[in-house]
Amino acid sequence: MTDLADIADVGRDARRGGYSRHGFDHVELELREWFVAEATRRGLDVRPDRNGNLWAWWGAPGPDAVITGSHLDSVPGGGAFDGPLGVVAALQAVDLLRVRGFQPSRPLAVVVFVEEEGGRFGVACLGSRLMTGAIAPEKAAALTDPDGVSFGDAARAAGFDPARMGRDDEALGLVGQFVELHVEQGRGLTVPVGLASSILAHGRWRYTFTGEGNHAGATLVEDRRDPMLPASRLVLAARAAATGGARATVGRIVPNPGGTNVIASSVDVWLDARAGDDARTREVVAQITEAAHAAAGDEGCELRVTEESYGDTVYFDTGLAAEISAALGGVPALPTGAGHDAGILAAHVPTAMLFVRNPTGISHAPEEFAEADDCAAGVVALATTLERLAR
Ligand code: GLV
Ligand code: MN
Ligand code: MN
Ligand code: MN
Repeated sequence: MTDLADIADVGRDARRGGYSRHGFDHVELELREWFVAEATRRGLDVRPDRNGNLWAWWGAPGPDAVITGSHLDSVPGGGAFDGPLGVVAALQAVDLLRVRGFQPSRPLAVVVFVEEEGGRFGVACLGSRLMTGAIAPEKAAALTDPDGVSFGDAARAAGFDPARMGRDDEALGLVGQFVELHVEQGRGLTVPVGLASSILAHGRWRYTFTGEGNHAGATLVEDRRDPMLPASRLVLAARAAATGGARATVGRIVPNPGGTNVIASSVDVWLDARAGDDARTREVVAQITEAAHAAAGDEGCELRVTEESYGDTVYFDTGLAAEISAALGGVPALPTGAGHDAGILAAHVPTAMLFVRNPTGISHAPEEFAEADDCAAGVVALATTLERLAR
């Protein structure tokens, strides 16, 4: 909690509440500096990779390493725990292992992935996707933030060459196992610490409705081609399609130009959809897309649909989970609806996640919370896990 308190004033969002910390913005860069200082103070050797992720090595980097860590960015107006808890816990676990007199016999490192939430450039897990080749570097570089700044330019300003980004077999090749500690994001965990079993299939889609910009007072309603109408019907269609445990969310709508007395000329609507498997997720999105096309037609509007990112269901390594659970004296495993860098890494290396209980089930909001005692239990569990794996 002292470490979280250290960064408690970095990136507070007075307007939204909570934190707005986004990949390569000045807030995230300040947090990265904090991480470098904290890791260096512990004698860890910090090395950035080509994709903007930071690796803090305990001893010399080498193959078959045990890696832990998370991210420091947040969603817009996010909580204090989603991301930073996993980074702070990793540093604390290193401290605890040293107190225990532990000498790792495998290389061990703490990683910080860049832009995990996609809160700035729209694609979640950008750092881990780039490293593993799950997104083309040209596509990543061309992503823009709401101010029109490209990821490539932001990366360059932070000291990374976008031309050198992309699948990094050198970095990935060192990872023997990856364990990410994270605050649980629902109410599924009723004991202090648990393990993740799977992540829902999920993705993001952008619907651009185009109509005709016009005057809010001088244009009769029957003369309008108002894209806000089909946009609204998409929101309702998303709710209607998300049955049987599927989730569909519209959390962001941007009308252009966005004036109270202006009929929008176009509206961008972002859909986040998740379900148990690929087929069900695709079915939900297809149902919403069909309704959106019909609504656009009814209002004389055009619709363009873009898939911005997608990932199939992730099943974490059961052997690794069993080994960790045994080392911890038996902990529950639960599925999660939240995405993580661990979900990207899981396609390449044995990966596990440790969850810390969330008493309210609130996350991606300022009220996100975890008890100090539960966080401490998470640190102990992570240290014990690393000790077991790197012994
Ligand atoms: C990331 O936290 C996500 O699940 O969107
Ligand atoms: Mn998150
Ligand atoms: Mn997270
Ligand atoms: Mn006027």
